[in-house]
Amino acid sequence: MAAPEEHDSPTEASQPMVEEEETKTFKDLGVTDVLCEACDQLGWTKPTKIQIEAIPLALQGRDIIGLAETGSGKTGAFALPILNALLETPQRLFALVLTPTRELAFQISEQFEALGSSIGVQSAVIVGGIDSMSQSLALAKKPHVIIATPGRLIDHLENTKGFNLRALKYLVMDEADRILNMDFETESISRFLFQNLVQKLQRAALKNPVKCAVSSKYQTVEKLQQYYIFIPSKFKDTYLVYILNELAGNSFMIFCSTCNNTQRTALLLRNLGFTAIPLHGQMSQSKRLGSLNKFKAKARSILLATDVASRGLDIPHVDVVVNFDIPTHSKDYIHRVGRTARAGRSGKAITFVTQYDVELFQRIEYLIGKKLPVFPTQDDEVMMLTERVAEAQRFARMELREHGEKKKRSREDAGDNDDTEGAIGVRNKVAGGKMKKRKGR
Ligand SMILES: Nc1ncnc2c1ncn2[C@@H]1O[C@H](COP(=O)(O)OP(=O)(O)OP(=O)(O)O)[C@@H](O)[C@H]1O
Ligand SMILES: [Mg+2]
Repeated sequence: MAAPEEHDSPTEASQPMVEEEETKTFKDLGVTDVLCEACDQLGWTKPTKIQIEAIPLALQGRDIIGLAETGSGKTGAFALPILNALLETPQRLFALVLTPTRELAFQISEQFEALGSSIGVQSAVIVGGIDSMSQSLALAKKPHVIIATPGRLIDHLENTKGFNLRALKYLVMDEADRILNMDFETESISRFLFQNLVQKLQRAALKNPVKCAVSSKYQTVEKLQQYYIFIPSKFKDTYLVYILNELAGNSFMIFCSTCNNTQRTALLLRNLGFTAIPLHGQMSQSKRLGSLNKFKAKARSILLATDVASRGLDIPHVDVVVNFDIPTHSKDYIHRVGRTARAGRSGKAITFVTQYDVELFQRIEYLIGKKLPVFPTQDDEVMMLTERVAEAQRFARMELREHGEKKKRSREDAGDNDDTEGAIGVRNKVAGGKMKKRKGR
């Protein structure tokens, strides 16, 4: 399931009356008692709109295209009917959930565990960047549910003896639009699942799908306050530091457009004393998960990330999303800002717009159908930060260079040095050397 997205024209599910929705329980939707209890234990007192729409239809065995705003419980909307059906007809290799990113796969698996542990559901996460052997062993045990990223799943379909998906009863594509854009992988998977399919799964595999849309297209959530700041490109770092100071005490997700800028900005902020940590595709998988877990556990207050973190991740305590580099695809904007203000909470999003970004920003405003207000800043106060920021920029550049060299030297270590924490000593070296000299100047 994905946030609002365009599709062919499947049947529209009828919208229930509002009063009806308010009184609906999971039991009313046809969810079995033991799963209702699991929902209760997660604090899900009543189903969300998309769950009300999708669960009864999924339980009837209909194919569904689900569309609802970010943070509105789409995961539960597919996990509950799968678990329910699994209870009715227990079977191994029952369901496959495809996701575009590895972190999202782990998160979805946690959700299946949380809802299904009392009924003994076994799931396996099959994603790239980690040991393939242990995954083969997990698959040999024939779990009930597989949560996978496409590339690694294909590897196993091709190379793991005895593993196939012939018995599969449920296929979910979370963030389907993104998965369907991974053309090569999707076609390969459809080959394994349905033989000789060249068309996209969306057309080929769905039988008379029902479209469950509970929000209009491209909507951002009501409790999200969205702002922009319009500044010269060369002052981006300084304004970022200003905003982090202004909103101190909050948890931030800051989006950058490249792995390199994510890493650099993390180093910059760390040099200024912020507890910032990066997450991007050039880190090893263990570091990626390490970063995410530290941020989730609130041991770090700032997560800097590429769009690898823009979809699906559910970290309830995120207060502010900063688009430090404006997203090139307007749709990514909606996913990025949807990392805050989830499940009825409130949140803020601030988008940096430089002289180069005006057109992209206008496209975003057009897409969401809103004109955004300016985030207020005191420019004189911002300018007072320039010197400290410039110094931190210099250190960050040095660290980035040393980091790159270190990585080159230790290629065989399979990139185990790709963190900003621990592995980097430049800052200390500078602090003990050059800095002291500078003081004397
Ligand atoms: N019925 C419910 N009542 C209360 N909370 C719920 C309910 N269903 C799901 N949640 C919670 O809402 C949060 C968001 O859910 P989820 O991640 O499934 O959203 P999503 O719609 O998939 O968002 P995205 O578009 O960003 O992927 C999660 O923390 C989940 O535990
Ligand atoms: Mg989701």
